[in-house]
Amino acid sequence: MLRLSFVLLLFAQSLFAADGSQVMAVTAHPLATDAAVEVLRDGGNAMDAAITASFVLAVVEPYSSGIGGGGFFVCYDTNTKIARALDARETAPSKASRDMYLADGEIIPRMSIDGPFSVGVPGLIKGLIELHASYGTLPWKRLIKPAISIAQNGFPVDEMLHVRIESNRDRLNSEAKSILVPNDVIPTVLVQKDLAKTLQKIAQDGNNFYSGSIATAIASSVKNAGGLLSVEDMFNYNAKWREAVNGNYHQYEVWSMPPPSSGGVHIVQMLNILEPYNLSSLGYNSVETVHLMAESMKFAYADRSRWLGDSDYYDVPITKLTSRDYAAKQRSLISLSKIFPVNEAGGIESKDLEGNDTTHFSIVDAHGNAVAATLTINLSFGSGMIADGTGVILNNEMDDFSSAPGIPNAFGLVGSEANSIAPGKRPLSSMTPTIITENGQVRLVTGSPGGSRIITTTLQTVLNILDHKMSPQDAVDAGRVHYQWSPDILWYEPESLTSETVHKLTIVGHNVQTRLSMGNVQLIYINPESGVRIGASDKRGVGKAAGY
Ligand code: GLY
Repeated sequence: MLRLSFVLLLFAQSLFAADGSQVMAVTAHPLATDAAVEVLRDGGNAMDAAITASFVLAVVEPYSSGIGGGGFFVCYDTNTKIARALDARETAPSKASRDMYLADGEIIPRMSIDGPFSVGVPGLIKGLIELHASYGTLPWKRLIKPAISIAQNGFPVDEMLHVRIESNRDRLNSEAKSILVPNDVIPTVLVQKDLAKTLQKIAQDGNNFYSGSIATAIASSVKNAGGLLSVEDMFNYNAKWREAVNGNYHQYEVWSMPPPSSGGVHIVQMLNILEPYNLSSLGYNSVETVHLMAESMKFAYADRSRWLGDSDYYDVPITKLTSRDYAAKQRSLISLSKIFPVNEAGGIESKDLEGNDTTHFSIVDAHGNAVAATLTINLSFGSGMIADGTGVILNNEMDDFSSAPGIPNAFGLVGSEANSIAPGKRPLSSMTPTIITENGQVRLVTGSPGGSRIITTTLQTVLNILDHKMSPQDAVDAGRVHYQWSPDILWYEPESLTSETVHKLTIVGHNVQTRLSMGNVQLIYINPESGVRIGASDKRGVGKAAGY
């Protein structure tokens, strides 16, 4: 028995980490990784492989991302030596309104989470069309083929998927139940015939998703259940290329996602605050390192609640928040012996925190192009609705808006007017797909799911590699902490801090609590001397790194 466990452990480890002299793909599911690597073998570039990975993940991780949701792609082009950010985030339907989740000034419980009113206009397919038009080298049909085959023939339901179906079955609509829990039993092999048909139509022309029978089925399923999404909303959706948030950390250049994500702004802000401290000599998760990280998180998340939203609708002060002067001002308020008073950090208060879905993948091709992508339908199985006859699980991204100033969403995140609901507006995200370069060469590609913990998880993975000089797999597996200013709790994974460190953090003034498993990082590090791509998939998930 012991020997079997050992063999299984070795097998698991070999899936988590991999080296490749030319290409590498790391995703949260082995089938998506394998399909992406096959595209690279066929001569596709990182962007082609990203399209395939996105489609396969939509089939094999139906709880975390999908064509009924949205996502962000940060793409580094080795010819131009810059990264561009592709925004395929969902939008609020044209009939959405600022107070749609309120009755007599009170939030209507779960209206932004369950069912038709929680659904935003899906953006992923338009994003993938854009990605292909801008960078694609292999035919669109070829890139979708693996997803169609897996949806048509089925794939084994792993424990991760089984547990999520089980814990969400009561909130699934009847269409979703008929596919995910046929005859009231969770299948051991999940077959998605309707989704395969939908993907076949998309393979003929991606725009088929936004007009004709698919768009009509999505809009009428939502409308018949009482919601707001219309065929016009589907037709009018557009993905957008945006300038990546750009900063420096020591000799490295950081590229990440701008609004409507808060991720890029705040990872650069926190790195700016932390840069002058010698984290390397203070050590991984020493009292000083954790305290300094938590204080930088305090300022970032307080600012998030006040200033962040869709920059097409609200003038987000990106330049100021990511400037070194602003970081210096915030750093001057940090003391090593005492926490900065929470109520003086600004922002708007909140209470709870939950959820851990969404998916991230990282890909590097033989030319040195890279894609960091984080995709989501928001909470597990999104709205819980599958649109009739399509197999498409609809997101509940509307919950990422602030339903009212100061009222927390499912991640305990609060917002201000910057993130209020308006027709066509994109809800604020925490997704932080990030690429780090050095002298114009990609060094690191990373990101994670995890709701409000995404930004801090990504930050710590970057610091583990750049400051603490951990191997990629150790950097990804190392225990994490999280602080989001409100609620005023410094969370830590049980193995991440010693009891002495916890005690000393309490003395400094932190309100410290344990929290199981934060994030599911999929990372690639490129060795500067050899150019070898080293992939690392988080031990917290069931992902896989593969390359050659
Ligand atoms: N729905 C999670 C996020 O976008 O941050």
